[in-house]
Amino acid sequence: KIPVIIDTDPGIDDLMMLLVAITHENLDVRLITTVAGNQTQDLTHQNAVNFVNYLGKNVRVARGLEKPIFKELETAADFHGETGTGPVEFPNVEIEFSEKAIDAMRDVIMTSDEPVTIVTGGPLTNIAALMLAHPEVKSNIRKISIMGGAATGGNVIPTAEFNMYVDPDAAEIVFRSGVPIILSSLDVTRQAYLTNEELEEIKEIGTDLSDKVYDMLKFYQEAAVGTPFHEPYFEEVVRLHDVCAVAYVIDPMLFSGNFYYVTIERGASVTSGTTVVDYVDALGMPPNAYVLYDVNRDSLVDLFIEAIHKV
Ligand code: BDR
Ligand code: CA
Repeated sequence: KIPVIIDTDPGIDDLMMLLVAITHENLDVRLITTVAGNQTQDLTHQNAVNFVNYLGKNVRVARGLEKPIFKELETAADFHGETGTGPVEFPNVEIEFSEKAIDAMRDVIMTSDEPVTIVTGGPLTNIAALMLAHPEVKSNIRKISIMGGAATGGNVIPTAEFNMYVDPDAAEIVFRSGVPIILSSLDVTRQAYLTNEELEEIKEIGTDLSDKVYDMLKFYQEAAVGTPFHEPYFEEVVRLHDVCAVAYVIDPMLFSGNFYYVTIERGASVTSGTTVVDYVDALGMPPNAYVLYDVNRDSLVDLFIEAIHKV
């Protein structure tokens, strides 16, 4: 089994990613850490704890930072709802104490006898803080599979994707860390959609989980219509962005991509948070990321629907 840490801001598609990860037989999810992004840290943390409990799994969940490194937090409450789980409520777990994410990540990475894979579905705040506080962890991280960025068009401002836009400073620290990076940007996650027919198939599974998944995804789909957060055709499909980052770890053959040098625009300008992908090697820098550009959608959908059946 592949040892993984998942850093996430649930968030509707984040819960879908957690579902796939926690139920997959090839992954050993050793830790979930929560980040402020789609909602505040209070909510993303509570949502992760509630969801793990709802699935009946015993996974460590640690609490990350409250806000981006420099910027003020901007959430995506319009698309994920006032609680972060759209119209759905999971049984609430009383949280008495939460470990700190940075300490817990260090502990898991340094005590692992094989290198650990990190999967991220939110802003990179926690991961950047980990690298700054404990640079020794880098040598025992196999790779970081990141959902974020956009080469051909953003979803918050014209060129930037939400996770990178929320904390571009953290992203730059991670991209400069030297740890191998796999980037599931919007260029690939926009292809990772469910059709309305597939959504109805999910509803027909007829379990409590499938009902909740359906309700959350419908909310996510409808909330995005007509906004820059999502894009044309959103009435007909719903995108499973964060699921890509974990699907790559489960089966890299589902994707194609290429190595590029990627840097993050951090200026207070109209392009702040843009992932600048050096396709033409204009900067002459060694590649620091494997940028995915294609996914086998049918297999990804199968992987997702199988996860719902497993619960
Ligand atoms: C990303 O933004 C968030 O709202 C989603 O959870 C996903 O991680 C897509 O740009
Ligand atoms: Ca997310």
